[in-house]
Amino acid sequence: MSYKKLLSLKGYNTFSIDAKSLYSFFCYKEDELIDFLKSSIVKKKQYYILGGGSNVLFTKDYEGVIIFMQNKGIEILEKEGNDVFIKASAGENWDDFVKFCTDNDFGGVENLSLIPGNVGATPVQNIGAYGVELKDVFWELEALNRQTLKKEIFKNEDCKFSYRESVFKKELKDKYIILNVTFKLSKLHNLKLDYGTIKNVLKTNSPTISEIRNAIIEIRESKLPTPEEFPNAGSFFKNPIVSKSFFEDLKIKFPNLVSYLAGENKIKLAAGQLIDLCNWKGKKENGVGVHEKQALVIVNYENANGNEILNFSKKIQKSVFDKFGVEIEREVTII
Ligand code: EPU
Repeated sequence: MSYKKLLSLKGYNTFSIDAKSLYSFFCYKEDELIDFLKSSIVKKKQYYILGGGSNVLFTKDYEGVIIFMQNKGIEILEKEGNDVFIKASAGENWDDFVKFCTDNDFGGVENLSLIPGNVGATPVQNIGAYGVELKDVFWELEALNRQTLKKEIFKNEDCKFSYRESVFKKELKDKYIILNVTFKLSKLHNLKLDYGTIKNVLKTNSPTISEIRNAIIEIRESKLPTPEEFPNAGSFFKNPIVSKSFFEDLKIKFPNLVSYLAGENKIKLAAGQLIDLCNWKGKKENGVGVHEKQALVIVNYENANGNEILNFSKKIQKSVFDKFGVEIEREVTII
């Protein structure tokens, strides 16, 4: 069992923040994890599980243990008619997993191509893009109970998925460590091509799932900055959900607002558009800025620290609230 002391986390978070963790533990096997959690180092300290580091903002050094799940493996469990059940370890890179599925013609995750991060983090915030959410393909997951150190299974309904939410962000926050996730994919493809510009980018009316993956990659690369070039954590905010009556009043003043139905009497607005209409797109202050093509993305242009980014994000929240009366919630976790 090996751990490191005072490791810089700069290379382990996509905002490229140079915070340090008191201890860091790289877990390659599940058994090592249990031994480590029983060890005296962990017993006295708080700990945090870091996946791909693509959804966190460090505002200070972490005074506990950062656990990096690095366990790998993709296993086809069962093929039943057209259904395929595949188990992927938490430490697998998400997009490698998507590629494995499209290469094998297993459909369901192609619209979720190129989302950064690891498999284990995907159910926590029910990742979603281009008309598909993780919950649509999620079968079950296995997680370690941090209290009892016993493994437990969570089925789809146990996870209480909703837009960018799950039980692991709410009542079970910091209570479990996800070890692996099983997906239910299909050899019979149910293509989702209605979102945004997918159809325009595809050069055919009956695409393969690999062609859809390539189209999604093309769209994402044209709009979203890569963290290697422009450190960022994807959408910094969630799209806000408001009541239908609130939206109807708002529309009188702002008739061009983008909106999606989000359940009975609920409307989801596009936070990117609200921020854009407050003229933040392309604006920079002290090394932090709003991306010039997608206003939902905050970029760390010049080595800003976590607090500078957080303060910048609060100014955006305030101006959106002042103009529209809408609170936009952070999607990124602040540490
Ligand atoms: N818009 C603007 N200005 C902007 C950005 C967006 O006017 O600067 C408008 C667009 O024209 C469009 C609408 O807002 O009409 C929605 O924009 P887009 O399709 O780009 O999607 P989004 O709602 O901004 C969400 C996800 C993204 C995901 C895309 C595609 C959230 C918080 N974000 O963004 O997820 O890739 O849909 O499905 O739900 C992420 O979570 O990190 C992420 C990138």
